[in-house]
Amino acid sequence: MGSGPTRENRGMDVDALEAEAAATLPPHVYDYFRATAGGPEVALRSVDAWRRFLHRPHVLRNTAVVDTATTVLGTPVAGPILVAPMAQQVAADPLGERATAAATASAGTLLGVSTNTAVPFADVTAAGAPWWFQLYLFRDRAISEQLVDRAVEEGARAMILTVDITGLQHPSPEATYSVDPTAWPLSPGADRLANIDPDLRARSRGEGGWFDRDMGLGAVEWLRERSGLPVVVKGVLRGDDARRAVDAGAAAVLVSTHGARAFASSIPSADALAGVVDAVGSEVEVYVDSGLRSGIDVATAVALGARAAFLGRPVMWGLATGGERGVRRVLETVHEELVTAMDLLGAASVADLTPDLVVRP
Ligand code: LAC
Repeated sequence: MGSGPTRENRGMDVDALEAEAAATLPPHVYDYFRATAGGPEVALRSVDAWRRFLHRPHVLRNTAVVDTATTVLGTPVAGPILVAPMAQQVAADPLGERATAAATASAGTLLGVSTNTAVPFADVTAAGAPWWFQLYLFRDRAISEQLVDRAVEEGARAMILTVDITGLQHPSPEATYSVDPTAWPLSPGADRLANIDPDLRARSRGEGGWFDRDMGLGAVEWLRERSGLPVVVKGVLRGDDARRAVDAGAAAVLVSTHGARAFASSIPSADALAGVVDAVGSEVEVYVDSGLRSGIDVATAVALGARAAFLGRPVMWGLATGGERGVRRVLETVHEELVTAMDLLGAASVADLTPDLVVRP
């Protein structure tokens, strides 16, 4: 599987899948999806941080049957592998989130659906997977209200409030994409923000951009009340912020560097997880994303206290190279890797994935 002699074989070759996606996608689309807050070294750091963990496997444990099943905010899932919200998936495949959601349904898991989607929420629901809506809080609150109300009407089971903002450095000017509807479209012709009415989209972006940079803890409370659903606060890297989010009513916290897109010199999610789990893990579910590339990484995350991990780019590369089938293959492969990892660690269920299994040499 490995693409070179120095590559450690930790499972699916996501780099090879990315290379295939790079050869398939229009260059500006590939550039947009692969972009980070800095250069490629920022992405590498995020991925390598998971690989620095090693394990102390148990033996003499019965792993004849490995059960990966768990629940996230009460929704049963086949395993602790969820699909991260990612923008503008129609640029990777014409069916976009419809294909991702259908593959997610086949894999028995759950997806996040981005504010930045060209696909109506109803189509995601029709694909059959449970989904959570990822909200960017707009400065124009009417836009957020419309998005939230629609997501609730159309079947979202929770709200993911993104509280970081990307400091994206686009590898090429053509890759620059923003939710500003007057900006350059990533996928010409697509209805870029399908769940916001055109009259609201047309409102001027005003001073200070689209997103609310004045966001305080009141946003959590507001979103909980408006939606009547649990709120997952996404983009937390510190225990003290996690504490504040939970005190403000968050039902869960998602440790994330936005796929290495938020801040070039931030610590990776892999290094932030334990501190957040220490702060709030006994009270709420903690999830993690950014940089996970294999079932071993997922096992590490769960052992460190994550309820589940979200996969982003591996899913995007699967979508770009094989549509629904491609996403299904990625989810199945990572699931199989997780089963193998649990077997080799002596963990018959996710509850057996405990922190003592993990060391950082
Ligand atoms: C991004 C924004 C849109 O990461 O969330 O591209």
